[in-house]
Amino acid sequence: MQKVTVVGAGNVGATVANVLAHKDIVNEVVLLDIKGDLARGKALDSWQQAPIDYYSTRLKGSEDYKDTANSDIVVITAGIPRKPGMSRDDLISTNAKIVNTVTSSILEYSEDPTIIVVSNPLDVMTYAAFVHSKLPKNKVFGMAGILDTGRYRAFLASELNVSPKDIQAVLMGGHGDTMVPLPRYTTVAGIPVTEMISKEKLDAIVERTKKGGGELVQLMGTSAWYAPGAAAAQMVESIVKDDKRIFPCCVYLEGEYGINDIFLGVPVKLGANGIEEVIELQLNDEEKELLSQSEKHVREVMDLYKGMN
Ligand code: NAI
Ligand code: 2OP
Repeated sequence: MQKVTVVGAGNVGATVANVLAHKDIVNEVVLLDIKGDLARGKALDSWQQAPIDYYSTRLKGSEDYKDTANSDIVVITAGIPRKPGMSRDDLISTNAKIVNTVTSSILEYSEDPTIIVVSNPLDVMTYAAFVHSKLPKNKVFGMAGILDTGRYRAFLASELNVSPKDIQAVLMGGHGDTMVPLPRYTTVAGIPVTEMISKEKLDAIVERTKKGGGELVQLMGTSAWYAPGAAAAQMVESIVKDDKRIFPCCVYLEGEYGINDIFLGVPVKLGANGIEEVIELQLNDEEKELLSQSEKHVREVMDLYKGMN
């Protein structure tokens, strides 16, 4: 049976732990936060939900990394979220220190965990955890694409008045306003979406998706957590059950799509060995150009991170 640690017991981390507990697929979830009582309280609250919602997953809250010992999977959500007017990139100096500290502390007690990064700016924080951990690239990756395609799929489901279950989509690039939703790879129960919606409406949905995180920050004064938490838990599930699901994830590229030495969102196969395959789509020239712009933006933020070290 597997043990999962979620670092950061805030909005996203507590949601990851709670959604994961509901899936009843791992033995233990440890919720760790520098605010130990917050972690203990949220873990206890989730555990008291178990008799009501029928799951057996044990939950423990802590501020002590000893309690994370021998974790199979670690989800890092520690860090500050953005406030209205801030971009994800504005979080870099605070969150880079946090992600590096968390990564070192985790590795003191777990030798070879799989690490899923959620903290923003996502692509660069995933790079930081990868470099800092020295783990192989299949074991360190980031969550963004499932969330971003979730937003895109939800907007399409509303517009077409169909079940969101029937919308399938791929999205690539960085987790920011330059992300690249791919209408050519979007279907409604197998039907190309372009046959069901006008170009103007589809373009508007693509634009709304790119700014989907910001829309929620404007509404709530902080960033989203239900969909992000569920997305990270879905990644854990695919690993634990070796489902080999195909998801857009933020992974280290070494030549795929002609791109090197950067973490960027691409479709992958996610199973027991983490990133088991990067799937290379035959992008057209316009899609390649959009991906290249997104890569350029992530590199600018990466340079900021490298300059800090
Ligand atoms: P939050 O403020 O609700 O929770 C963050 C938690 O991290 C707090 O409880 C804080 O005490 C804890 N923390 C801070 N430093 C720590 C440390 N050194 N060790 C352990 N815990 C520490 O924030 P929220 O909304 O949960 O967001 C967390 C991060 O996830 C943010 O950076 C946010 O931008 C990012 N995010 C990323 C998404 C993605 O798609 N990749 C989606 C949503 C949020
Ligand atoms: C989001 O997209 C803030 O990255 C977070 O909601």
